Amino acid sequence: MNPNQLAAPQSDDGERSWIEAYPLDDLWEGEMEGVEVAGHKVLLVNADGEVRAYRNQCPHQAWPLDEGDFDGEKIICPNHSWEFDAKSGCGINPNDCALTRYPCTVNDDGVICVDVVR
Ligand code: FES
Repeated sequence: MNPNQLAAPQSDDGERSWIEAYPLDDLWEGEMEGVEVAGHKVLLVNADGEVRAYRNQCPHQAWPLDEGDFDGEKIICPNHSWEFDAKSGCGINPNDCALTRYPCTVNDDGVICVDVVR
C-alpha cells in the first residue's frame, strides 16, 4: 500500500504526539482491529486503503466496536446494529451521531501511529 493513500492527520497546528499502535502490513483493506494506545482503547480500520483511528466505543451505550462487523465501508455495532461510515466516522443509521476520531499516520517503519492526546 502506498502510504500517501493514508489519511493525513487532522488539523495540525502544532506538534503531534504520535504513538506506535499497529503494523500497517497487518491491517489489510476491509479489516478493523481494536488496540490499546497509551491506555486508550482505539479502533483502527482500513477502508479502501485509507486508515482511520476511532475511540473503540459506540456512542450509543459504549459497546466495543471491534466486536462488531466491518463490511469495508460501514462499521456496525454488535449491540444494537448502529452503523457508521468507516472513513468519516459519521453515523449512517442513525445519522445524528459520530465516532470520536483520533489523528493517525504511518511512520517510516510502516507502523500506524495514533495521537490520542488531542
Ligand atoms: S451500544 Fe452500539 S448500537 Fe447500542
